[in-house]
Formats: sequence, C-alpha cells, structure tokens
Amino acid sequence: MSGITLVSGNPNLEAVFVEEFGRSTPVRRVWSDQWQDPAEVAMDACAADPALVVIGADAGQELTQVVLPEIDRLFPATTILCLTPRVDTATSMTLLRLGARDVAFEGGTRREFRASVEPVLQLAQSRHQRRSDTPAEIRRRVITVISPKGGSGKTTVAVNLAVGLARRVPKKVVLLDLDVQFGNCIGSLGLRPDYSLIEAVDAANNERSALKVFVSSHPSGLAVLPPPPDLVTADDIEQDQLKRAVAAFAEEFPLVVVDTASGVDRFSVAAMEQSTDLLVISTTDVPSIRAVRRQLDVLDEVGYVSQRRTFVLNRANARVGLTVAEIEAAVGLPASFQIPSTRLIPVSTNEGIPAIERGGGGNLAERFERIAEFYAPTPDRDREKRFRWRGRR
Ligand SMILES: Nc1ncnc2c1ncn2[C@@H]1O[C@H](COP(=O)(O)OP(=O)(O)OP(=O)(O)O)[C@@H](O)[C@H]1O
Ligand SMILES: [Mg+2]
Repeated sequence: MSGITLVSGNPNLEAVFVEEFGRSTPVRRVWSDQWQDPAEVAMDACAADPALVVIGADAGQELTQVVLPEIDRLFPATTILCLTPRVDTATSMTLLRLGARDVAFEGGTRREFRASVEPVLQLAQSRHQRRSDTPAEIRRRVITVISPKGGSGKTTVAVNLAVGLARRVPKKVVLLDLDVQFGNCIGSLGLRPDYSLIEAVDAANNERSALKVFVSSHPSGLAVLPPPPDLVTADDIEQDQLKRAVAAFAEEFPLVVVDTASGVDRFSVAAMEQSTDLLVISTTDVPSIRAVRRQLDVLDEVGYVSQRRTFVLNRANARVGLTVAEIEAAVGLPASFQIPSTRLIPVSTNEGIPAIERGGGGNLAERFERIAEFYAPTPDRDREKRFRWRGRR
C-alpha cells in the first residue's frame, strides 16, 4: 500500500494529513510509550509498507535522530519526511544526512504545509512504485565517489566497493566510470569492454534498448561501463544526457557506483545530481584535507545537500602529524572507514584483481567489505547492530 504513516503522538497532525491527502492516500499514525529501541519504532512505522513516513515535530530531536537511520537501513523503499517545530538550517542538514529525504516546517499555514509536503509525497509514491520489483533487502542507491585531489584512491575504493556489493547481490550492481580522461576501472578489473559510455548515453536518451547490453560483466556479478575510448567523443556528451543515462542505469540496477575524475566536472555533477550518496575520499595530507573541506563547502553552496555523505580516509596509517580526530574536525565528517597504505593496492590494480577478492594483506579485504556492508547490509547483521536505546525525549 502506497500510503503515509505518521510517527507522532499528535492526533491533530493526523487530522491535517487526512484532510489534505486522505482522499487519495491512506493515512496511518503510530505512537507508543512502550517503544524500547529505534528498530521497534522503525518496524511500527513501516508495518503497512508506506511510501512516506512522516516524523512529527512532537517526536523530538532525540527520537528522530536515532529512528531516521534505522528506517533508512531496515526499510530502504521508504521515503522519510521530518517535520520541525522551527526553521533551522543546521537541524535540517543533520536530518538530511541521517536519512530524511526532506524537512518541512510544521507550524506554517495550511497552504504552505501542503505545498511543502505534496512534492515529497509524489516523489515517495513514484519511488515506492519503482522499487516494488526490487528484493526488500537491497537498499536502492546511487553512490558517487568523489575527491578534489588526483590519486587519493577514488578508483580503488569505487572498484572494491562495487565488487563487494556485487558479491552480495550479483547482477544488481553497475560501476560507471565517469573519469573520461584517465578512467581505469576496466583495467583494475581485468576486463575488455565492447561498448562505452557513448553507446549507453545514446541508448538511454533515445530509449532504444536495455542498458544491460552495453556493460561488461565481471565474474563477481558486477556490470561495468567504461568511459568513451577517446576524449573527442567524450566531449560530445552533454550534462543533461549524462544525467538521464545515470537515472536510466539506476532504474535497471538497484545499486549504482560511480567513479569520477578529481575535482568537479560536468560528468561528476551529472552523477551527483542523481545520487543518494556521496563517498568522499581523502588521504591524510593537509592539502588533500583542506581541498575536501573546500569541495564540501562548494557542494553546500550549490545545494547538493540531500545526498548522504560518507567519508573514507585512505592511506590512514600514513599520518603526517594529524590525528584522525583532527582530520575529521577539518573535513567536518567522521571518518566512517579507514584504508591503510599498502603495496597490495597497486599490485592488485596492476594485476586486474581487486584487493577485496585477493585475500592476504591483513584485513584489507575486510576493510572494503565493511564499506559494502554499509551500503548493502546483510539482514542478519542488521539485527546484531541495533541500538540499545531506552526512553525518549
Ligand atoms: N591505500 C593505498 N595504499 C597504497 N597505494 C594506494 C592506496 N590507495 C591508492 N593507492 C595507489 O595510488 C594510486 C592512485 O589511486 P587511485 O587510482 O585509486 O586514485 P584516484 O583518486 O582514482 O586517482 P585519479 O584522480 O587519478 O583517478 C594508484 O596507483 C593506487 O594503486
Ligand atoms: Mg581514478
């Protein structure tokens, strides 16, 4: 059922939703004083398989901030809207990063309220519809790997993450190499492609054929699309065409990983616009860290704030006078994952066998597995990781 579930103790809010949307959309409200942990709230909120979960302002910051990631993780097909008691950019940013699709002010006029909720509801219902053919355990994601500096490890992380995801959900993952000048995903995976971005963009924009025919298949079950073979042809691709192509790939593959060139170009912009997630990579040197911070500030300024940002610290053991805490403070994000500096990485690239598949090298493969686990959690581990959370407000 493609309805709305409110997480709120406020019957008046329910009445407003019923009046505004109830004619076409079932509205349900859940609230309990007996909830023991965020997973329980998430289960109640999503029991009727709603397209949109709305967390009322009365739920309070504490509950909202622990429940959001739980719903996002356990029920990926659900869109979440948070209502806030006042307009506050910092709070909104936090909620968006925790998994809310949008944030709306609960206290405005009825007309303003409807105008802010309606577009999210429409989006939620069309996403819900599209996702109904995807196995429930797959979180539909477009993950764009970015870094302002060359050589920071984007391709290494993109390739290993994509293979890790494909080993979990074979044939559901595509790796798009949008580094049109120096892209090397294909080489890192030992593949010889027949087609490139050129043919796929053309097909996506003319609705000519399924995009699956243009990708190269890796034995892990990963589909890979290389950049065009030469720069002149790449120059012909326009940003809008690329955006449509990325969206079309996201329709065919529940998990899309995009490798990009360093900095920001029209290829990475097209990918970021279609992304649910940005995976930000930095090495530990001060210029890289400063550049990442600047890049994130620019993304804030241009309004790319709805994509969840996750930070990977590469060559994490090569610390040049900075602690991880100092690096995190400078970047403004926690280092969710750390990859050590090891010669196994260039060796893997040269051999065309990704580190995640090679084994050896301490827990290097496991480091990449953890990133894959983050984006495509296995249901059993979900249960183990639930918060121990008591009380609320
Ligand atoms: N943790 C690491 N330890 C050792 N070598 C690494 C590590 N990460 C990346 N490298 C090596 O550094 C080089 C650059 O890595 P990679 O190609 O992944 O970076 P990139 O950000 O994609 O670069 P570009 O901007 O050129 O696309 C490669 O030779 C890779 O093997
Ligand atoms: Mg690269």
